[in-house]
Amino acid sequence: MNYRHEFHAGNQADCVKHALFVALLRGVQRKAKPLMVLDTHAGLGAYDLRSPAAQRTLEAQSGIIRLRAQAPPALADYLGLVGASDIYPGSPALAQALLRPDDRLVLCELHPEDGASLRRRYRDDPRVHVHIRDGYEALKALLPPPERRALVLIDPPFEQTDEFATLAAALARAQVRFRSGVYAAWYPLKSRAPVRDFHAALQALGVTDVIDCLLAWRPPTDPARLNGCGLAVVNPPFGFADEAQMLLDALRDAFAEAGAMGAVTRVTDE
Ligand SMILES: C[S@@+](CC[C@H](N)C(=O)[O-])C[C@H]1O[C@@H](n2cnc3c(N)ncnc32)[C@H](O)[C@@H]1O
Repeated sequence: MNYRHEFHAGNQADCVKHALFVALLRGVQRKAKPLMVLDTHAGLGAYDLRSPAAQRTLEAQSGIIRLRAQAPPALADYLGLVGASDIYPGSPALAQALLRPDDRLVLCELHPEDGASLRRRYRDDPRVHVHIRDGYEALKALLPPPERRALVLIDPPFEQTDEFATLAAALARAQVRFRSGVYAAWYPLKSRAPVRDFHAALQALGVTDVIDCLLAWRPPTDPARLNGCGLAVVNPPFGFADEAQMLLDALRDAFAEAGAMGAVTRVTDE
């Protein structure tokens, strides 16, 4: 496990993922019933943008620092949660900020040190449970949840060459175990072919009601670079697709390079 998110916190990919995740969580919370939020690859929870790791890559400069300066109105909810400090909230911190009294947040992190700091960070919040374990295994163990309502974020580091296939299989298995769950799976856009194959795998595995939210901040012509990213959403709440398109339009304009595009497309039907 070489991937450390502290080098990448607040970069363009984080902004896309987190702006969409916040909108998704708000959408799921429109129903009053208690909810489990499961973050299968949780990372550290929050990140200091002044840390040596962040300062080495300066990735936040073209991400959250640029967005904050432009403050597009469509991103006001996400930017409001991020705030103005040097501590950038990861998906656990964003979810915790939106958690209602009867909601539960379950965080899985496989890296033992990161898992231990995650545990320390959330030890005073009884709604938050930290598991130092494989996030894909947790999907099998923790679904369906007793609440019968869940939003699941799957945000792997894509260190493995077969991560797209693993992700598609995990979504298929999870939907069989717990059909009404809402699942969001993040992926990197380096070139188009693996994303096409991922969508084809979801179709072949029979995963239903999938939309794809993709932002390419530049055309993906150089596969050695991170040219964009996407979030595949299974069982999106009503209205989320339109909202996601507005968020992607704002992110595309904020990050604009020639040929940038942001689109929500349907991958499989309900
Ligand atoms: C992209 S980062 C997560 C970022 C976080 N979701 C956020 O948005 O703030 C991926 C994390 O997954 C962890 N990880 C890698 N393989 C894992 C696995 N099989 N199960 C759980 N966590 C894993 C890595 O240590 C890393 O912290």
